[in-house]
Amino acid sequence: MLEKIKETIDFLKSRGFNSPDAGIILGTGLGGLTEKITNSIEIDYRDIPNFPVPTVKGHEGKLIYGDFGKKKIVAMKGRFHYYEGYRSEQITFPVRVLKYLGIKCLFLSNAAGGLNPDFEIGDIMIITDHINLLPNPLIGQNDDRIGPRFPDMGEAYDSYLINKALMIAQNHGIKVHRGVYLATTGPTFETPAEYRHFRIIGADAVGMSTTPEVITARHMGLPCFAVSIITDLGVEGKIKYTTHETVIQEAAKTEERMTRLMTDLIASL
Ligand code: HPA
Repeated sequence: MLEKIKETIDFLKSRGFNSPDAGIILGTGLGGLTEKITNSIEIDYRDIPNFPVPTVKGHEGKLIYGDFGKKKIVAMKGRFHYYEGYRSEQITFPVRVLKYLGIKCLFLSNAAGGLNPDFEIGDIMIITDHINLLPNPLIGQNDDRIGPRFPDMGEAYDSYLINKALMIAQNHGIKVHRGVYLATTGPTFETPAEYRHFRIIGADAVGMSTTPEVITARHMGLPCFAVSIITDLGVEGKIKYTTHETVIQEAAKTEERMTRLMTDLIASL
């Protein structure tokens, strides 16, 4: 794997992707952040050696490098999900590439269903911990040069970044929750019994992404910060008919607040 990573970073460096400070995986609700990247270089995933290729029509797949305030960042516009049929190794390969390009922190966002009865649609939840119910992406042979066989997950989400984000949110008057994110395979949204089950086992929100990338980043010692946009509620009495379109629609309404939070957080590094 290290050879493949090196081949990919050699290619990206030859295209000008030099020493980014931070990496961002732009999930639902953070797409607008790309407009804030200046002097950008964009490469389609399909043109990057060893990168998985998006198979789903309409899913954009681009790696973007550029200036973000005073920082250099590399952003993934479009991520890979387990429910699309990718192997865990494919989903997480880009995270390995970002780490070897030199990023110091990884930022992620997603859309999620709220399980905590205090949550409302449109709320932002800063992820403080997770429950991974997807296959662990580290299953298989371990390369000790990349990370340990048995990585600690005691602080999967960086407490320094969480505290910084809480301060920024307070300064901007942005309401945020803290909570546990649970990842399932999808692609179905949950039955009422499943929502109840996930709440009972300790989750505040449920979604279909993020944990594979975070586990992989932590395997390499990379600090992570992640946020969920609550796009629907899996709370008894509040469960409504949910579609991909309603999720996108609700996430879009939160995009501005979310972008402000992430922008200031990255600028403060
Ligand atoms: N469940 C799982 N994934 C999701 C949800 C949900 O309710 N909302 C957005 N992504």
